[in-house]
Amino acid sequence: MVSHTLKERMRDLIDQILYHDDLYYHQQRPVISDAAYDNLFNELKALESTHPEFIQSDSPTQRVSGRADENFKKITHKVPLLSLDSYYNAADIAQFHNRIVKDLDKSSVEYVCEFKFDGVSVSLIYENGRLVRAGTRGDGYIGEDITENIKTIKNLPHKLTGAQVPRELHLRGEVLFLIKDFININKQLILENKEAFVNPRNAASGSLRQLDTTVTARRPLHCFCYTIMYHSDDFACATQSEAIKKLAAMGLPTGDFHPVCQTTEELFAFHKKYQQERDTLPFEIDGLVIKLNSLEDQRALGTKARSPRFACALKFESRKETTTVEDIALQVGRTGAITPVAILKPVNIGGVTVSRATLHNFDFVDQLGITLADHVQVARAGDVIPAIISVDTSKRVASQKKITPPDKCPVCQSKVIKDKSHYYCTGTHTCPAQIKWSIVHFASKRALNINGLGEETVDLLLERGLIKNTADLYDLTASDLLSLDGFKLKKSQNLLNALGDSKSRPIEKQLFALGIREVGEQTAKIIMAHFGSFNTLEKTSVEELQTIDGIGPETAESVFSFFSHPENKKIVKKLKDHGMFEQVFASKVKGSNLEGLVFVLTGELKSFSRSALKEKLEALGAKVTNTVSKKTAYVVVGSNPGSKFDKAKSLGIKILNEDDVVKLME
Ligand code: IVH
Repeated sequence: MVSHTLKERMRDLIDQILYHDDLYYHQQRPVISDAAYDNLFNELKALESTHPEFIQSDSPTQRVSGRADENFKKITHKVPLLSLDSYYNAADIAQFHNRIVKDLDKSSVEYVCEFKFDGVSVSLIYENGRLVRAGTRGDGYIGEDITENIKTIKNLPHKLTGAQVPRELHLRGEVLFLIKDFININKQLILENKEAFVNPRNAASGSLRQLDTTVTARRPLHCFCYTIMYHSDDFACATQSEAIKKLAAMGLPTGDFHPVCQTTEELFAFHKKYQQERDTLPFEIDGLVIKLNSLEDQRALGTKARSPRFACALKFESRKETTTVEDIALQVGRTGAITPVAILKPVNIGGVTVSRATLHNFDFVDQLGITLADHVQVARAGDVIPAIISVDTSKRVASQKKITPPDKCPVCQSKVIKDKSHYYCTGTHTCPAQIKWSIVHFASKRALNINGLGEETVDLLLERGLIKNTADLYDLTASDLLSLDGFKLKKSQNLLNALGDSKSRPIEKQLFALGIREVGEQTAKIIMAHFGSFNTLEKTSVEELQTIDGIGPETAESVFSFFSHPENKKIVKKLKDHGMFEQVFASKVKGSNLEGLVFVLTGELKSFSRSALKEKLEALGAKVTNTVSKKTAYVVVGSNPGSKFDKAKSLGIKILNEDDVVKLME
């Protein structure tokens, strides 16, 4: 693969992973399975290990996914809340074990095997035995302060008991719904005509991240504690199993499954047992967590950027059932991509009725070799979105109809063209489906975040002929809105205010909102970081776009052709007349002496998390990367720095400590 396509693939993987992270962590509506997510992640990791020169500073492999919601107060974790590497089979776990004994230079070690609770990871801080603060994981360094919501959880003590309570105790645990409670909550939501949760994990996440604590208090959440992250020096612990016992003695809920295992065979036997018996437990688990028992050995092995070397997740295979394909629906999205969706005979998989499964594109349909009325195996991998994983051809009868791509758009009848693995409707500015979804995207949380302008309102506005495109939104008046079903004075005024506010969203969000094919959130940021202003971007050439690090030929072509199209020109001009696209990219603010300088951060910092410092530096125009090279201007070093520190010294690169970098930023 030539380097630009390789680089582009890496960029594409990063964008996809970040997109799925957002759906999973912030919107509680994941659309791919854990296994599909792990595939994207592992492909990126593999490419980065063979081509470290292309590692991008925002790569999710370099940090824990997620970020803190702006609506919550922030909490900085004393010890980062890392992720776990995921493994699925005996060979993986043998490799994990062999590396550990080799690195520790021991012939045998002990592990604790725990449930991998499928809930929401939280940090809990007890001071003098009192629960004083709690946070979500966020990006691993900074999370959301959810203290008041956590305090509503009935099985979590506000005050610790027993003889051995440390002055300060920082824990990590998982908040979840028992399956019976989840079923009841969904019944209640349906009765109230509200949207039910997809699974218990999403229900827990949605319930915990409520700004109104009284809502959380009405939800019967549970918590299990599984790791001591930090304790004051009036407490001691030598092993993970001792830690768990001491937590239980303080009255903390830990669950009752923590066997100590001496061999990988024992670990794997538990994996097999619970893969089969997971449905008999009162809560969801999506695998087991394997932890080295000795805390001294844990410290000796240390951590990587996003996960520890001393623990891993041994995940379960997804749940599967068989059913039949009753029909194929064709969905036309914002970019015109036509997605085939299998309409299935409803089937119950692990407590959830499944009646649809995406087939992604027609190449996937071909690969599966699926036809109408086929018997198929459906998995709810990660117990999220169902996917067809195989077709049982032995049950097929000769008359079954093949699934063929459409030659016309099912919505607007425009011609359809094929580009890579997707078929696209060519009626970009006339196709009602493309128009609708592009307006929904424009207003979405990740784009302009126009509160009150969801799919339903967009449908109403289009049906009434009040808008034809995104720019028309800014012509809407109070009387237009008041004429819509369900719109009273307050709701109309709120929407007009939200439309007004949307014009001052960061310039990269405004670019992302245009919905240009190939331009995801990160790509939009890269483009605006290069051009600074929208006026410069509009006048660019394909050649200039291609010179940007992280932008490949296809993206360059797509951006260029977007701005060349007369209809888009008209819409962009109208948006500008309404006051959009006036901002300058934040780091292009004049006067920054860090503009364009490349920084690498290593070690633990005292007053910032690394991700917070990275954000600050980037806001001042600096670039933060993960590999030290001759291009690096400064390496910022905290305590316990990694090999980057040695490399910086050997290349003679200027080293800064935390105080130096603060001064430099001032
Ligand atoms: S230990 C450094 N133990 O699994 C140790 N995690 O990415 C990190 N999880 O979201 C975690 N059950 O919230 C640990 N018994 C357990 C767990 C557990 C569930 C979650 C954790 C994290 C994910 C792994």
